Amino acid sequence: MDNSNIISSVKQQYEELPYPPRNPEDEKKRLLRTIGDSLGELNHSCFQGRKDFNQNFRCLVAGGGTGDSVIYLAEQLRNTTAEVVYLDISDAARRIAEKRAAVRGLTNITWMTKSLLSLPELTIGKFDYINCAGVLHHLHNPEDGLHALNSVLKDDGCIFLLLYAVYGRQSIYLMQHLFREMIPQHISIPEKVALARRIIAALPSYHAFKNPDKWTNEISPNGYGDSGLYDLLLHSVDRCYDVNEIYALATAAKLHVVNFLGPDSRYYNPDNLVDDATIKSLWGKKTKQERHSIAEKLFSHQIKHQFYLSRNDSCTASINDEGNVFILAHELANKHMEIYRAIKPGEQLCLNYTINNQKLIFRLLGNKVNKACFMYLDGKTSISSIIRKVKIKLGVSEQAVRLELQSIFNFLYPMSWVYLERPKSPAASQASTTCE
Ligand SMILES: C[S@@+](CC[C@H](N)C(=O)[O-])C[C@H]1O[C@@H](n2cnc3c(N)ncnc32)[C@H](O)[C@@H]1O
Repeated sequence: MDNSNIISSVKQQYEELPYPPRNPEDEKKRLLRTIGDSLGELNHSCFQGRKDFNQNFRCLVAGGGTGDSVIYLAEQLRNTTAEVVYLDISDAARRIAEKRAAVRGLTNITWMTKSLLSLPELTIGKFDYINCAGVLHHLHNPEDGLHALNSVLKDDGCIFLLLYAVYGRQSIYLMQHLFREMIPQHISIPEKVALARRIIAALPSYHAFKNPDKWTNEISPNGYGDSGLYDLLLHSVDRCYDVNEIYALATAAKLHVVNFLGPDSRYYNPDNLVDDATIKSLWGKKTKQERHSIAEKLFSHQIKHQFYLSRNDSCTASINDEGNVFILAHELANKHMEIYRAIKPGEQLCLNYTINNQKLIFRLLGNKVNKACFMYLDGKTSISSIIRKVKIKLGVSEQAVRLELQSIFNFLYPMSWVYLERPKSPAASQASTTCE
């Protein structure tokens, strides 16, 4: 298939089966929180915690689908001067996203039905932030897609990408190959889906796709149904990336990989995967890319990579900049005294949350230093003041407090529960959210 045929077959899929399926009425009940789009986290990772979202901030959601990211961004930016632009090739997906915005009464979104490949020719200005989740890996040439996004990125702007990962999707590619060999190309989309469901039902129970059963939500009628099944197993264009390919994609566009995001982001650090000190020493002198690459192979389960790209290699707020403040966010917003009281030195504190249908338990081993730190994680006290106060209160060294703050940060950041900010910059508006 040439490029235009690929775009038309991908468009046909998303016209018939917009993805992900969403009911606009659900906007009355909950706000979905999408990875990468929390303003506090974005500010921390890509703008050194110094971005003022009220200074004509502009963001683009390229391949916005049925609207998860555009809704979450527009909701957080509701009372600002910021502009949110939605772009997708599918009219059906756009209609759902527009209905969701209407239910919420959002008026800060500009809607466009276009291919992102046409961005260099559209005169829509440049953006501080571009979200492009689950789109580039469905293009004939993802490099062209990233080039198009880059052409409308401000010099100090950043891009969030979600791309499929290779190692956790092996059984998906096995199924895609099987379906390509078994399902005729000329039959309709509903006929393909029906046949695929029949084949899945007939698979032996020990089949790699059924065991483990991690794709149930993506394909079951109670989950993403036919849209999910087609997107996962019958897509006409689907490629996946390992870490080194992601770095190569970024480098070719003169962009830096800032960091990986999401609940699995701690698995990009090999130190979190192996206890053996001798083995750990093997990556002691490796580069950031090499460590990420080793970690993904030690972990082996990544199904997607979610990460920020920037032209600026040092755009992330640092804990070593002790004028910054810790902001607890989302489920932990304003909970610092509750956590302070819950921590018992020598005991595990368990935090239970359901995020993206997964139940997660995070355990923090309490000690007198981390307990005292939480007392001051009020979103106002700078890191240097926290260090001074805890040192005086407990009579411990400054270094001991710094280490605890670092470990609290490492513990909370993968869940977007903490970010760093300069105290003077106006805080990103905190919308109350639920996770899917
Ligand atoms: C898997 S969906 C992801 C939707 C959304 N980003 C999300 O994460 O929920 C892919 C979306 O990209 C859109 N898309 C595919 N190729 C595109 C292109 N060349 N330009 C703009 N949108 C495109 C599809 O129409 C579809 O809505």
